[in-house]
Amino acid sequence: MSSVSRRDFLKSGSLGTGALFGSGLFSSGTYGAIDPNGKPAILGGDAPSYDAGPAWPPLLGDELQRLESVLQSRLWCRSGQPQCVTNDFEAAFAEHCGAKHCVAVNSGTSALICTLSALELGPGDEVITSPYTFVATINCIISHYALPVLADVDVESFQVCPKAAEKLINDNTRVLLPVHIGGNPPKMDSFLALSQQYNIPVVEDACQAHLARYNGKYVGTLGKAGCFSMQVTKNIACGDGGAILTDDDALAERLFKIHSNGRSQGTAGFDFRYEPLHAGNYRMTGFQAALLLSQLATAQQRHAIRNENALYLSSLLREIPGVYPQKIYDGAESAWHLYMFRIVPEEFGCSRDAAVQALCAEGISCYGGYGTGDWVNYIKSIYSTPAARRVYSEKALDDWAERIQLPNLERLCCEAVWFGQAQMLAPKENMDIIADCLRRIQKNAADIAANV
Ligand SMILES: Cc1ncc(COP(=O)(O)O)c(C=O)c1O
Repeated sequence: MSSVSRRDFLKSGSLGTGALFGSGLFSSGTYGAIDPNGKPAILGGDAPSYDAGPAWPPLLGDELQRLESVLQSRLWCRSGQPQCVTNDFEAAFAEHCGAKHCVAVNSGTSALICTLSALELGPGDEVITSPYTFVATINCIISHYALPVLADVDVESFQVCPKAAEKLINDNTRVLLPVHIGGNPPKMDSFLALSQQYNIPVVEDACQAHLARYNGKYVGTLGKAGCFSMQVTKNIACGDGGAILTDDDALAERLFKIHSNGRSQGTAGFDFRYEPLHAGNYRMTGFQAALLLSQLATAQQRHAIRNENALYLSSLLREIPGVYPQKIYDGAESAWHLYMFRIVPEEFGCSRDAAVQALCAEGISCYGGYGTGDWVNYIKSIYSTPAARRVYSEKALDDWAERIQLPNLERLCCEAVWFGQAQMLAPKENMDIIADCLRRIQKNAADIAANV
């Protein structure tokens, strides 16, 4: 591979331009050749010149103007200020995703809590979800004193398995909560079929999956409602924020009231009428919405860059013994919030942890991802309080724990490797660098295993 300047690459490449990220965020480094048969850095070889992608969150150039406009308007909060710019973000996000309604909230966790409130989840109810997820998915169920029932994953896709989920459905199941982990959709047609068959609503945890698609539709619009996070690392970000999409008029109205202490849309100033709902203050301010409007305007272009890079990287990694890029189901397009693959130690030649260490030594940041979470003990411990014990006896919790069997999760947590989404925004050449480094790590895996 010849050396090529970053500026030349951007001028000639098929991928996006610096304008998508504002000016000055890319360094103008050059790329050196890497010998995929050479010595890995962890064994004393030279580390490559590698671009970790643009700084995140991106600064797009119009933020200050948008924030100042909110500041000057004095419409900072939608409670009592029905003209707040939060409405504009809701309209824009709903339109972009093809949903009838959007309710903006202050986090992804809040999006999930409000949606489960709107579906009247309560003590004794069960929600079937994925164990391979961020803890907020579990916490939002616990906040209703309901039981998270964890279905095992498909190791190949990293996603919750609908067949495992079906086995866990019983008379207490109130919600199916598939998670699009890493931005990669699970087998949603199967979850939607289960929803129909058992008359249980699907709520999508799409917190990592902005602009992912399934059978041509944006995720978050497939089930009864879809929940998003706009926390700072997310593909559309404003610091902390969230959103709920739904096509259901009545649900949207309820969600609005629930996210604003029971007050209706359009309520102004000192109008203190409210509905008796399981509500709270989960509102998004005008400042968060202003940042999101800026991000949303170019999000699709960044998505296209991630998608092109990630698919290319998968085509390269698939050729390396013991390396398995995550499976994308037919009809699905990932948001690539995480680029995830597996290292199978018996085939690769060293453990996942040693391989991660070796990649990091090459200057390529990567992570082993979620641990198994020890969810049963986590949940049992939270439900050990006197209040929880009035709902769940020790025997009830033991019976529930016996149903949670997660052998695939155990395996996945020992094999997974993650890259962050910004790495998929680097020039395509960086995908070759990642693959070449991993190739030379694999060729020297026995040495690495002996020395690390
Ligand atoms: C899968 C998943 N669900 C829920 C959340 C919660 O979102 P937030 O951090 O915005 O509350 C996250 C955030 O990382 C997430 O990754």
